[in-house]
Amino acid sequence: MIILAIESSCDEFSISIMRDGKILSNIISSQIKEHSEFGGVVPELASRLHVENFHWVLTKSLKESNVVLEEVDYISYTSNPGLIGSLIVGKLVAQTLAMYLNKPLMEMNHIKGHIYGANIDDKFVYPVLVLVVSGGHTQIQLLEKSLDFKIIGSTQDDAVGECYDKVARVLGLQYPGGPKIDKLAQKGNPDRYQLPISKNDDTYDFSFSGLKTASLNLINKLNQNNEKIIINDLCASFQKTAINTLMLKFERAVKEFKPETITVVGGVSANSSIRSKFFEIGKKYNISKIIVPNMEYCTDNAAMIAELTNEYIKNKK
Ligand code: KG4
Ligand code: ZN
Repeated sequence: MIILAIESSCDEFSISIMRDGKILSNIISSQIKEHSEFGGVVPELASRLHVENFHWVLTKSLKESNVVLEEVDYISYTSNPGLIGSLIVGKLVAQTLAMYLNKPLMEMNHIKGHIYGANIDDKFVYPVLVLVVSGGHTQIQLLEKSLDFKIIGSTQDDAVGECYDKVARVLGLQYPGGPKIDKLAQKGNPDRYQLPISKNDDTYDFSFSGLKTASLNLINKLNQNNEKIIINDLCASFQKTAINTLMLKFERAVKEFKPETITVVGGVSANSSIRSKFFEIGKKYNISKIIVPNMEYCTDNAAMIAELTNEYIKNKK
């Protein structure tokens, strides 16, 4: 059985081909270069570039998989959430292929895709507790069985990736700011600047607008006082606070829900600090499976959509 999956929810256009549960290709056309001069994703530009790029992405994914289009059994695509113009391009490509091949078309959710991206190289043992950390979402989800998604906590305002990107922008770092802050943070002193942990309460919800505002105020104050900003230390202090904010609640959820598997997904799961904290927590609570996905499956990609599609098909049979 061959699945062709499309992901186009933001500034990446990606096609992945999977045969019998195995990823054969995962081609990603990234637009980071084009958007970075504007300091963030420009939605109109993202969808226009998707229109320009989908053709070579499709050709390359078929070539790399050694599959001809007519062999494909299922077409799937990300239908939401995402930028509407970007999603529409993916949908039109998927619909056209499904119509041409006369094969079933399946709609996939982007967040659920990120979650099943962690199931590609390793396999979930349920219950699974997931920390979802992307540019648009911050959640804790519990899956007691396959595809049984339950959101137990969510951000009440900004997503953690968004917070990283905004702070980076004020520091003059190029979009996307998350990886840049992460890199500088590794060379800095995390205790130089004091920043607040917001929503440190007994819910599983998060808030990142307070950390964003406190970081921006601190940068402004240092600039106004003509004090030199030690950028590595500021990045390290910000990263320590952001990751502690996430891990405080996630650790409490681990204690309460006693999962067999813990995983972290979404773009921010590429973060060095969150990856090492995950192993620490997993070991501390004797979790049998600690899945920190391969970097290729952290940021947006179509392999995660193919894996989710495969899980739905398996569950239907
Ligand atoms: O999942 P993703 O590719 O797109 C969305 O669905 O939003 O996530 C993108 C986010 C951006 O905010 C980016 O700055 C962040 O992931 N990111 C990171 C790192 N790599 C990517 N944040 C912190 N540390 C990183 N190493
Ligand atoms: Zn994403």
